[in-house]
Amino acid sequence: MQKVLVARSIFPDVIDRLKQYFDVEWNNGDALGADELARRLADKDGALTAGDPIGAATLAAAPRLRVVANMAVGYNNFDMAAFNAANVLGTNTPDVLNETTADFGWALMMATARRIAESEHFLRAGKWEKWSHDAFLGADVYGSTLGIVGMGRIGQAIARRAQGFGMRVVYHNRSRVAPAIEAELNAEYRTKEALLREADHVVLVLPYTAENHHTIGAAELKLMKPSATLTNIARGGIVDDAALAEALREHRIAAAGLDVFEGEPKVHPALLTVPNVVLTPHIASASEATRRAMANLAADNLIAGLGEGPRAGRPPNAINPDVIGKARS
Ligand code: GLV
Repeated sequence: MQKVLVARSIFPDVIDRLKQYFDVEWNNGDALGADELARRLADKDGALTAGDPIGAATLAAAPRLRVVANMAVGYNNFDMAAFNAANVLGTNTPDVLNETTADFGWALMMATARRIAESEHFLRAGKWEKWSHDAFLGADVYGSTLGIVGMGRIGQAIARRAQGFGMRVVYHNRSRVAPAIEAELNAEYRTKEALLREADHVVLVLPYTAENHHTIGAAELKLMKPSATLTNIARGGIVDDAALAEALREHRIAAAGLDVFEGEPKVHPALLTVPNVVLTPHIASASEATRRAMANLAADNLIAGLGEGPRAGRPPNAINPDVIGKARS
């Protein structure tokens, strides 16, 4: 039987599925450090990860490893050049989380615009003594301009919801989407700078890459309207969190909603001291049904990638399918 490591806590029934095909070692605890992960992968043929960094050194320490299935759509934790050099297959879990993540993007954007978290903290702290006409005035969402940075599947699902809110939608993406999609979503392409100047609510949904590091930094924040909000459901590192905290403290933008952070689960201490930011612990895809679908899809990828099950050799979400069938190097 081939050996696999499940590097994170996961639904136990998914472990049971994997056990039908593999000898499974399960780290049902905190994330493993790089050394411990490499040690545990030394004799494994496959692994199921969730954001755990896998680079050249880890692959070199795991000479049998042929498939790593990430339980996430983003796979910036994989060094794909190293995967390709070693003929290791990487897989991810796209599509099953699109609508859930788009729902959360909206929830966070609306909570940010309407100061839901800040006002709830005020109430819980026992500070609510009287109704006041100017208590927690926020920004309207209905009828405003939504700026989406990253018009992939999730960005498009967010844009689709904007139609019910009577919003104008502008977007920025590496490349323009097809005219038929622009027409269906009623979305207009903008440069990043034009979008930041124009949007009332900016939502970030782009993948993290080296080029996207600090896509939103001090210079970009200066372009935004003082009344605007910024929501990041993409990845930590896309926003310069220190620059954002400063912009929020100085009210250079109205508010931010953040589900992802540079260096998470640590959060930049300055963000914890500003009231006009809603902070959530990387839960955009976290509905019961969707997290189960992601876990099962990651398992499908691992099973098929290692040549087992009904789709043997044809994993549904190969990131680098060219390595399939090649000997490990
Ligand atoms: C979550 O962050 C994902 O990439 O699926």
